[in-house]
Amino acid sequence: QTIYRNDYTPPSYLVETVELGFDLDPARTIVANRMTMRRNPGSKRAGIELHGENIELVALRMNGKLLGKRDYRIDGRLLRIPNTPDDVTLEIETLTAPEKNTTLSGLYVSNGNFFTQCEAEGFRSITFFPDRPDVMAKFTVMLRADKEKYPVLLSNGNLVEEGELGDGRHFALWEDPFKKPSYLFALVAARLVCQEERFRLKDGRDALLQVWVEEGNLDKTDYAMQSLKNSIRWDEERFGLELDLDRFMIVAVGDFNMGAMENKGLNIFNTKFVLANPRVATDVDYAGIEAVVGHEYFHNWTGNRVTCRDWFQLSLKEGLTVFRDQEFSADMIGTDSGRAVTRIDQVRTLRQAQFPEDAGPMAHPVRPDSFVEINNFYTVTVYEKGAEVVRMIQTLVGREGFRKGMDLYFERHDGQAVTCDDFRAAMADANGRDLNQFERWYSQAGTPVVGAVGRYDAEAKTFDLTLSQSCPPTPGQTDKLPFHIPVAVGLLGADGNDMQLGQGGLKGATAVLELTEQSQTFSFTGVLEAPTPSMLRDFSAPVVLEYAYTDDELLHLFSHDSDPVNRWEAGQRLAMARLSRLAGALANGGKLDLDDTFIDAMRKILVDATLDPAFREQALLLPSETMIAEKMGVVNPQAIHAARQFVRACIGACLRAELTSQYHANLTPGQYSPDALSAGRRGLKNLALSYLAAAPDADGVNLAQAQFDGADNMTDRVAALVALIQARADAAPAALHDFYQDFKNEALVIDKWFSMQAAAPDTDVKAVRALMQHSAFNLKNPNRARSLVFSFCGGNPAQFHAIDGSGYAFWAEQVIALDAINPQVASRLARSMDRWRRYAPALQLNMKKALQQVASLKKLSNDVREVVSKALAN
Ligand code: ARG
Ligand code: ZN
Repeated sequence: QTIYRNDYTPPSYLVETVELGFDLDPARTIVANRMTMRRNPGSKRAGIELHGENIELVALRMNGKLLGKRDYRIDGRLLRIPNTPDDVTLEIETLTAPEKNTTLSGLYVSNGNFFTQCEAEGFRSITFFPDRPDVMAKFTVMLRADKEKYPVLLSNGNLVEEGELGDGRHFALWEDPFKKPSYLFALVAARLVCQEERFRLKDGRDALLQVWVEEGNLDKTDYAMQSLKNSIRWDEERFGLELDLDRFMIVAVGDFNMGAMENKGLNIFNTKFVLANPRVATDVDYAGIEAVVGHEYFHNWTGNRVTCRDWFQLSLKEGLTVFRDQEFSADMIGTDSGRAVTRIDQVRTLRQAQFPEDAGPMAHPVRPDSFVEINNFYTVTVYEKGAEVVRMIQTLVGREGFRKGMDLYFERHDGQAVTCDDFRAAMADANGRDLNQFERWYSQAGTPVVGAVGRYDAEAKTFDLTLSQSCPPTPGQTDKLPFHIPVAVGLLGADGNDMQLGQGGLKGATAVLELTEQSQTFSFTGVLEAPTPSMLRDFSAPVVLEYAYTDDELLHLFSHDSDPVNRWEAGQRLAMARLSRLAGALANGGKLDLDDTFIDAMRKILVDATLDPAFREQALLLPSETMIAEKMGVVNPQAIHAARQFVRACIGACLRAELTSQYHANLTPGQYSPDALSAGRRGLKNLALSYLAAAPDADGVNLAQAQFDGADNMTDRVAALVALIQARADAAPAALHDFYQDFKNEALVIDKWFSMQAAAPDTDVKAVRALMQHSAFNLKNPNRARSLVFSFCGGNPAQFHAIDGSGYAFWAEQVIALDAINPQVASRLARSMDRWRRYAPALQLNMKKALQQVASLKKLSNDVREVVSKALAN
């Protein structure tokens, strides 16, 4: 049941209007759907095709006439009506049981309230409909429900009318003035309260903004509201895009598969990306809220006004919207160095998650060619690599050129469902640029490797930089054609300053070289001394850069590079070289040592008060265990863990005085504020704490205990608790106990409580199983499942990969258990085995067994089956 991009055909019928009527009841909801349809002149197919899943058909009328069993066919998940006239009004009545819907797709119940999630294909489990994004219709929605239980009735667009129905029920009628695909439909029927505000738009209109939450959470909505207002302003200013509705609503729900959903005018959010106050949310949580509120709001133009022709084009809206939310977050900080820190975070995500995906069995192009289950393709490749692809376009055409391209894109495609090619064409045409070769970023999977070799000619005063590219094979794609890669390059002199690049259009300190062939040499002239090249500045392309840097060159860049991202990168390279050497040594029973050069470099950055604390934190943070694993020939998770711990302990011991003084210098007394500067201070201070606690003496642990006891915000509390747990401190269990008692009524904090324990060095499968028995654990709630099961399988490699295979057996068991509840969540967990072929043979054997055990089940969702069968095949 693989679906191919090239098989796309236009829909046989278009839908003009849809009127939906809901009689909401958890056990038995009646959905009435009246839609007017018209034959699509662009289609060759004859009849009407409607999708429908898990719904019971009660009645079907065409142009007023009741259809009988012989008038239509239901085969599998398609309802077909043959020989239909050009203009059709269909009236369809169906039944569904929202309370039994544990998939959290379609119409479901969470904590007694009704919510919907329709992307990608959830609408078809609400009513029969051509549930594909290229069918855009005007929706009118009538909601009827018990007034006492569901006082709030929301849907897309504008509230037209509301009132009583007698018998304790009430109604609300909503109308969305904009045509939209079915995946953007939403309704909420719930007992909720809201924070609301009128907000003046650029054109002078006032819009009503609301953030809806459960009673008791109204003390946690300020930041989401502020982020929404900032998002609206930012899109007006940066892209000239205005809110097109009089009303914009955000609703928080505790059971949600993903982060949030951009339903027109009615964004539905995982509580994790709405609720925050200093007591319960960390700096990272605050940043996540800003980014996701922005992301969903920005979808209103990039996704909703212009949507996707088909799901293969998903990155058209997701890559672009991630790019937009990244730029938004960076602009909110405002400083160059703050911007660089957000960029470093993005690079980390790519290396931690996207590069492994691109090198594994689920590797796929940004615009995939085929899939079994579309929900499996909401990936870091489609989202984050997709954003990198958009960013590269901006690098190639410039910021103003990018804006011109966006303007043309909306001029051409507002109200349409289009493709990634359409976006690229708008960018190319608006700028007179040829982006044909650039298309390969959309069509070829895999992370390109760019090799660089420099040659300095002292006599001619020239520096020749030869760049070559290759891309490893990925499933279904053995040979790759050269990519169009922007490589931003600067040359550092011995004094650490950038040389001025004066030749051949290369002006200023940084030149963007365009690598389009397999190998190309770029010449810099007038280079008065042998330079240290700083390449891929600001991470100008999502590639692996190989250059035979010496330690001295890296130390030079680490101290002086004017590009903060590459400055950070030099430190990562220094650290990675040591970590992989140590992990290799440990795997072979070698002895451990760490050179003073490295420690000194760390010290220098740590105490450099001219640098932002947030940047220093990034520069001092070691590559993660997953990132180290990706660099190893054969992955030995225990050796990697031990190597990283060893380095952490060395840093803690050798830099004890400096870490302690930085700890105190970066305290943030007074009222908590999540702004970037304060968050950066806490970040550096808490990293210092974690290094100190990793050292053999007791000072760090005592400091952590004191911070835990005195903390007045969640950032500091969690950091202290993690330090205690990771140091295996005697005080950790009591601290965990107190933490639970203090926050047992805050679901999002209890998620943290579980995940800290899941990632603890001593937590083995047995301990995870014990935690699963805790009364607060609930596999059905995705946030809770992620906090414990995922945090263990993905975030505690040394324990998950126990040599006895117990981690893999546990994984198989949980994937199977989750699949019966919620295939989307199960399938995400299944992905934690992606890289199984890279482990030592003994581990591989057990991993394969676990994969086969899951794959052998007859009753398995398409979601999980696709993931495990691809893992076994590739
Ligand atoms: N469009 C949403 C976002 O990026 C993601 C929703 C995806 N949901 C799903 N079940 N596949 O913000
Ligand atoms: Zn999105």
